[in-house]
Amino acid sequence: MSGRLTDKACIVTGAGAGIGLAVAKAFAAEGARVVVNDAVGDAADSAVEALRSTGAEAVANHDPIGSVASADAVLATAIEAFGDVDVLVNNAGILRDRMMHKMSEEEWDAVIEVHLKGTWACGRAVVRHWRDAAKQEVDAGNPPHRKIINVTSASGLIGSVGQSNYAAAKMGIVGLTKTWAKELGGLAINVNAIAPAALTAMTEPLLEDPAIAKRRLARFALGRYGTPEEIAPAFVFLASDESNIITGQVLCVDGGLVI
Ligand SMILES: NC(=O)c1ccc[n+]([C@@H]2O[C@H](COP(=O)([O-])OP(=O)(O)OC[C@H]3O[C@@H](n4cnc5c(N)ncnc54)[C@H](O)[C@@H]3O)[C@@H](O)[C@H]2O)c1
Repeated sequence: MSGRLTDKACIVTGAGAGIGLAVAKAFAAEGARVVVNDAVGDAADSAVEALRSTGAEAVANHDPIGSVASADAVLATAIEAFGDVDVLVNNAGILRDRMMHKMSEEEWDAVIEVHLKGTWACGRAVVRHWRDAAKQEVDAGNPPHRKIINVTSASGLIGSVGQSNYAAAKMGIVGLTKTWAKELGGLAINVNAIAPAALTAMTEPLLEDPAIAKRRLARFALGRYGTPEEIAPAFVFLASDESNIITGQVLCVDGGLVI
């Protein structure tokens, strides 16, 4: 299938690698124009090069997600390049795992800042941009649906040893998702979250020890992590008009980790 996101202007944060990169590629393959945000190295530029080599429209943004200023800057990149934004994917993320009694204030703050504050700030920026037009379109009838897709985790649904900061941020993101769905539904803005499980730079180290890997994989009904490419179609679905009646939901795309 192709063309499900034709001409949609999409922001994907943390799209230089892993799940975000697969989502950016899947969006582009469906006809979207993509702002590839990534703050680390030249990941955003390499991703944009890869997207453009397929004929897609893409532009890089290097602002570190986690502040109102960077959220406004990512939005400005989209408006400058594409004139508007239709879909926001809040995907950028880091881990700073440590048992709760050993966790430093810096480790706590870093994870809360990127995941929770970053998601809030980027959502706030696009919704401030959308509100006036969305109100007029709703009043006129048959408004277009705009989409926010947040990224949570099994940690944010059932907790995880060594991840107080991450679980708190990811559960907070579930709270943002449900609250925004209620605040913004009247403007035809859908807000959903995906809880993925995929092998990426974030998760590969977790399987280095064979004994630990065996125990970890036994928690998945399907016995394995997905690939980023297996996760991305769920994002396409939630970004497309096929999901216009779905809002406030958390979709686990995780090989049966959370059942
Ligand atoms: N991989 C999994 O199994 C899994 C499970 C649950 C949730 N998640 C979530 O999915 C998202 C993507 O994870 P991933 O596995 O692809 O990780 P990854 O480490 O492969 O990719 C994350 C990307 O985000 C970028 N990034 C980090 N901090 C940033 C910041 N402040 N601003 C902009 N870019 C930043 C990194 O440079 C990297 O390219 C994260 O939110 C993560 O918490 C992943």
